[in-house]
Amino acid sequence: MAIKEIIDLTEPGVEFVRDPYPVYARLRESGPVHYVRLPDVDGVWLVVGYEEARAALADPRLGKQWLPEGEAGVRSVGHNMLESDPPRHTRLRKLVAREFTSRRIAALRPRVQEVTDRLLDEMLPRGRADLVESLAFPLPMTVICELLGVPDLDRERFRGWSQAIVGNADAGQVEFAERQMGAYLAELIEDKRCGGPGDDLLSGLIRARDENGDALSSAELVGMAFLLLVAGHETTVNLIANGTLALLRHPEQLAALRADLSLLDGAIEEMLRWDGPVEIATWRLAREPLELGGRRIAAGETVLVGLASADRDGSRGLPEPDTFDIRRQQRSHLAFGHGIHYCLGAPLARLEAHVAFASLLARAPGLVLQPGRLEWRGGFLMRGVRELPVSW
Ligand code: HEM
Repeated sequence: MAIKEIIDLTEPGVEFVRDPYPVYARLRESGPVHYVRLPDVDGVWLVVGYEEARAALADPRLGKQWLPEGEAGVRSVGHNMLESDPPRHTRLRKLVAREFTSRRIAALRPRVQEVTDRLLDEMLPRGRADLVESLAFPLPMTVICELLGVPDLDRERFRGWSQAIVGNADAGQVEFAERQMGAYLAELIEDKRCGGPGDDLLSGLIRARDENGDALSSAELVGMAFLLLVAGHETTVNLIANGTLALLRHPEQLAALRADLSLLDGAIEEMLRWDGPVEIATWRLAREPLELGGRRIAAGETVLVGLASADRDGSRGLPEPDTFDIRRQQRSHLAFGHGIHYCLGAPLARLEAHVAFASLLARAPGLVLQPGRLEWRGGFLMRGVRELPVSW
């Protein structure tokens, strides 16, 4: 059993944010699980090996529910399923899962196409643009707002709070953002309750009853709206932006894709594996002592699962894991997580990415990256560029 020595990942600084993969590769060479210091967190377990990451994500001893049940355990942004263990997780997920089946999501395709076309109509005459601002952010944001039935959401304020919460803002800023967002969402839900029944998702959730006939509490409604709005746009924006960047940095792959668009689904899976939107999964808490990858984890310790690292792990028979190859035979990447918290929005994210890439490639044949240094968003949860300047 290795000694619990702390590895300081804050030292490589900005380089770690820009390109963490060499650091992960070195860590994997010396073992699949490490005790590390990350920016803003001192002393957490980080899982970097693929098999161990998969095992950790499915391990019921690693819980997600940090706060106790009841009044004392309600955050200002309510209860959400990603911060719940069974039975609360099972109940919340079941109430909303039927809205996210592949069939339900496929029915959204014409609308996703319309929104994409409109965004490209505005962007293309300009000759150059920041792809994040023009397409990668507004597309998923518009779709999730429409799906929930909150088309008038104050997107700029919402985006600011959301980025503080998932980025690396300090604890005070996070608490402030959560309080603001919680109050804003509670008001939005109240308006909807008063406005009469609609056929949108949020109205459906207000009406929904579980098997015991219980409705969602206010804290659960706020939590659901919070999770779906945040998860629905913080991630897909990075898939569209990181994916475009990967293609522009691999012109031979881009040319192959342009020549044969039937490669697009595989290309999207490779974008997710090679440089996916979620670098490290959300925090897990060891409910009891456990052993993982030869390390002994004590009850009460925090475990972070490094999805980006796991997906570059070649030890599971994945040839040349650092190579971006859109024709690769995929072997279940972890970009959408695994186990009971596997991404509920995966079919929607795949649909949005498919429509966005197919349309962008068709309508911007000369797409190139503008010269200049790219800035990456801070924090270790999400991985994405702040801006992606392109021209065509
Ligand atoms: C490319 C885009 C996306 C990626 C890479 C992604 C990734 C993930 C990952 C890794 C998890 C699990 C986190 C963990 O176990 O700690 C997750 C959970 C979740 N995602 Fe996504 N996501 C994406 C898009 C979406 C969209 C569009 C929605 C919603 C509309 C969504 C809703 C959710 C929800 C509700 C959960 C929690 C599920 C649960 O706790 O059972 N995601 N996502």
